[in-house]
Formats: sequence, structure tokens, C-alpha cells
Amino acid sequence: MIPKRLVLKAALGLVVTACGATAHAADTGPIKIGLILPMTGQQASTGRQIDAAVKLWVAQNGNKIAGRTVEVILKDDGAVPDATKRIAQELIVNDKVAVIAGFGITPTALATAPLGTQSKTPLVVMAAATSSITEASPYIVRTSFTLPQATTPLADWAIKNKIKKVVTLVADYGPGFDAEKYFDSQFRLNGGQVLDKLRTPLRAPDFAPVLQKVLDAKPDALFVFLPSGQGATFMKQFAERGLDKSGIRLIATGDVTDDDQLNDMGDVTLGIINSHHYSAAHPSATNKKFVEAFQAANKGMRPNFMAVGGYDGMRVIYKALEASKGAGGDALLAAMKGQIFESPRGQVLIDAQTRDIVQDIYIRKVERVPSMGNGLYNVEFDVIKAVKDPGKQK
Ligand code: DHB
Repeated sequence: MIPKRLVLKAALGLVVTACGATAHAADTGPIKIGLILPMTGQQASTGRQIDAAVKLWVAQNGNKIAGRTVEVILKDDGAVPDATKRIAQELIVNDKVAVIAGFGITPTALATAPLGTQSKTPLVVMAAATSSITEASPYIVRTSFTLPQATTPLADWAIKNKIKKVVTLVADYGPGFDAEKYFDSQFRLNGGQVLDKLRTPLRAPDFAPVLQKVLDAKPDALFVFLPSGQGATFMKQFAERGLDKSGIRLIATGDVTDDDQLNDMGDVTLGIINSHHYSAAHPSATNKKFVEAFQAANKGMRPNFMAVGGYDGMRVIYKALEASKGAGGDALLAAMKGQIFESPRGQVLIDAQTRDIVQDIYIRKVERVPSMGNGLYNVEFDVIKAVKDPGKQK
């Protein structure tokens, strides 16, 4: 008979061996990055741009970190928050991803925030831009922008340029509320007057009724924020209702004069003053290289601000994975905080306290650029350096 003591020892040995094998497998298996994007539906251009940028990053930087293979798992949520949440849960529980990135609109980021907190999975927000998103979970890091960040400098520009009365028009959800609130308060603080505040639905908006209200109110300017993908429809209705000939100036965030659609919107966009963090015409060597490589890999498609949010998000993830040697959780999150680097948009910082992005905001004018195939571009003519999200300075 084998003594009980030995049986126990052998059994323990097996357990230890099994554990060792498991730990070993986890250390050598792929590092998984979940990527949840709207690849279908109204926000599909956001998904298309970010997916292309993520693929470019991997093509340029390889798929090996700390001796392990990096695997990006792309999932389409159609910009439906319940789908985002379900997919995130599967990625965390079944695929055991180290990090989840993407998030095309604010509601999908907010729906996933509690899962990030519960499972200690870092969530990298590459697109959504409502200020409060980073406060919804300590595991959220953002590489896009915030609406208060983009809007406040434009209100300052408007006042300095003899615009005294405005009407605001925003999409009726989180980022629209931020744009409206921060434009309104900064503009009125500077002595301006807001005559009316108009909102259009996120899904299938019709701009005709609100544009008629703008014509009737006769402001010096109309300020607009609409999410990426709606600019072309808006500009078409703007021209159809004669606002381009009404003497009412149009000022906007760069989401409206989106590089993804701008060249197709036509001459009605010429002269629109807008503010944002990225233009495909940003005159830096880093950006020129980025735009060339992006276009070469995507049949000439012009990268927009969503693409840059995705590209920089991958940079933040890769550098953090290198520092954590492939580990996820708190080690990965810690290594994301405080990163400083030159993005195609300019110098950026991931603020270690807020986990939000600090970046330059540019004031731009839509022009034809002869040196860039005579295309329509947002040409930067002023810059406000290192803008922190004003939404965090309560
Ligand atoms: C959001 C979406 C956009 O397409 C955009 O341009 C800005 C903000 C958002 O839902 O947060």
C-alpha cells in the first residue's frame, strides 16, 4: 500500500505542474486586443476609419510584444450600446483580452464602463468625445478628444471676430450637450448673445426645420456640432435652404467639416471656420508620413480625426504592453498613464490624473489646397497649445 503522505505529495505535485503549465501557456499565448467598432449602420464611417488605422499601426509596428503574438479581435456593434456591452463581456470572459478599444459613440463607451471597472480591463476610447466618459470608470483612457476642448477656443475666436449673436445647433445627446454648454458659456462670458439653442436627433436627422429657425432668428453666425458622418447631409440642406447666401456665417467643430467627407461636400464649405485637434493637412513630417501610408494602404482614402484616435490608441496600447511585458489589468493601465508622444495631430499627453488626452486645438478654415491635388482641406491658421479638457476643471 502506498502511504497516504506520498499520495498527497504526488497529487500536490500534479496540481503544481498543472498550474505551472497554465501560467506558462498564458505567458506565451497571444496577447489579445478587443476592438469594438460600428462597422455597419449610421456610424460605419467611424468604424471604417479606425479599423484602417489600427491595421496600419500593426502593419508598421509588427505583431510581437514581449515575445508574444498580438491578436486584434474586431467586433461590430453597429453603435448599439446593448450590443457593445454583450460583446465586451464575451471578449473579457471568453477571449480573456488584455484591453478593449474602439467605442464609436458616447453611449457605447458609457455602457461598457462598468465592465471595465469590474474586470479591471483597460478600455481605450478612440472615438467618443463626451467629457464625462473618463469619469465613468478608472479603467478608461481616451485618445480622441472632448467637445469642451474643441468648442471653447472657437467661442473665443468668434467673439474676437465680431460675431456677437449666434444660434447653436447640436446633435441631441452627450457630445452635443457638451458642445452647446461650453460654446454658450464661453461665448456669453465674452459678452456674446445666444439667440436660440437647437438640437437634432442622433439617428436620421432632418435639418430643414431647424435651418428655417436659423434663417428667422438672423444671427451673425450659426454654431454647429454634429457627429462624424452627418456633415455632408447637413451642408446639402444648408445650401438647399439658401443659408450659404443669407449672410449668416457658419462656424463648427471639425466633426462637421470631417476629412472623411469634406472633399465631396463641395464649394459650399469654402471659408467655414472650425476648431478641432486633427486635420489631414496638418503640416508636420509625422503627419505627412501618416497620411501617405494610410492612403497607400486604403485606395486613397483620406484619414480623418477618427483614424488618428485609432492610430494613437494603438500607440498607447503597444507602449503600455511593452512596459507591462504583456500583462493586462492594473499594470497595463499604469503604463498608459502619462505617455507623451508626437501624434500625426501634434504633441499629445495622456494625463495621468484624468486619463484624458491633452492636445493642441487648431482654428482652421476650409480652403482648396493646390499643393494637395486642389482638394478641400481644413487649413490650420491658429493654435491653442496643450488644451486640457475644460470639462474636468469644475
Ligand atoms: C461622438 C461621435 C462622433 O462621431 C463625433 O464626431 C464626436 C463625438 C460621440 O458620440 O461621443
